[in-house]
Amino acid sequence: LDNGVARTPPMGWNTWNTFGCNINETLIRQMADSMVSSGLRDLGYRYVVVDDCWFNPNRDAQGNLQGDPQRFPSGMKALGDYLHARGLLFGIYQGPLDQTCAQYFDSYPGSTGSLGHEYQDARQFAAWGVDYLKYDWCSPTGTIAEQVSRFAIMRDALAATGRPIVYSINSNSIHSKTGPERSWSDVANLWRTTEDITNTWNSGQTNGYPMGIQNIVDVTVPLAGHAGPGGFNDPDMLEVGNSGMNDTEMRSHFALWAMLAAPLMMGNDVRSASTGTLDILRNANLIAINQDTLGRQAVQVSHDGTRRVLAKRLADGDVAVALFNQGSSATTISTTAAAIGKSGTSFTLRDAWTHGTSTTTGTISATVPAHGTVVYRVSGGTTTDPSTPSTFRLRSVSA
Ligand code: GLA
Repeated sequence: LDNGVARTPPMGWNTWNTFGCNINETLIRQMADSMVSSGLRDLGYRYVVVDDCWFNPNRDAQGNLQGDPQRFPSGMKALGDYLHARGLLFGIYQGPLDQTCAQYFDSYPGSTGSLGHEYQDARQFAAWGVDYLKYDWCSPTGTIAEQVSRFAIMRDALAATGRPIVYSINSNSIHSKTGPERSWSDVANLWRTTEDITNTWNSGQTNGYPMGIQNIVDVTVPLAGHAGPGGFNDPDMLEVGNSGMNDTEMRSHFALWAMLAAPLMMGNDVRSASTGTLDILRNANLIAINQDTLGRQAVQVSHDGTRRVLAKRLADGDVAVALFNQGSSATTISTTAAAIGKSGTSFTLRDAWTHGTSTTTGTISATVPAHGTVVYRVSGGTTTDPSTPSTFRLRSVSA
């Protein structure tokens, strides 16, 4: 979406993965403070997104949304002011139908969705200083045409406020997720590619709830053609730092999200994050690959069974290459400079995890542990786009 924001994937923190509906202003302020003191803000994690359940179940007499008076007693504008005063940005959650997902699926009280209130709610968000709206279709029904048109109303309502607001949507209906045939890039800045992520490596399904890390990768890799500045596939928020995966899998998760030009929205409790977790989230090499101004999502170079090679062209002519081992034992994964779009006689490889460098005349190879991902930043020679799927840069749907 060409609205001036999300020219690179947004980075930040979201309440949902760890806290669900159990949120309040004190928690969010503490998280914001931790993002500053841990250095995460200065590495680019700036959006603090208050997910579902922040609201009073009743609109006021004029039909305006209100924060929950017990859990957000200072009001939503005060929370936005607190974040802005610390160099952070304010994100909030809402749905395009009668109810949010917690209301629709989990019996959370109220029917405060934006249906019929879109322009009023967009003005309210702008008045509170909102910089990012997560807008979540919470019903198993709704044709693609209905969803496109409802999501487009809020797009237009946000634009009418004059405030730059990242617009993140979730179609939340099995058959209307982004697919190779569809792009939401005229509607939103970010669009979810699957059902909800969980802190599991492999949930054994690619179309349902919940999704594991590897399963989301399987679905999102073929969608590379949809990504570009202003519009990115959203494989959901990070589970780095939550239980359920080993260190190798956590690192793989982060490396793959970086390669996929995914929003890097932390989903852990930053206040109590271990050094190991922070080392992953603060990997500046991977953040630079994710935030590259060309805005490309890595394309698949090869996939033989469990050995997967992805390549992401970068603005300075370097190419990031990921060697991803989906198998359950260590293996050697190899590709070539030519296969990732590099021509020349000598190349430098910089390992994003170890920071080590090496040179090669063409072979790019590593022994990769089970579920691991080695990432090299490859420089030297000249660069063309690697061989790509036919969907590359596809931009098809309009609303
Ligand atoms: C949906 C979304 C989640 C979260 C919840 C909140 O399930 O996909 O990311 O926002 O709703 O209820």
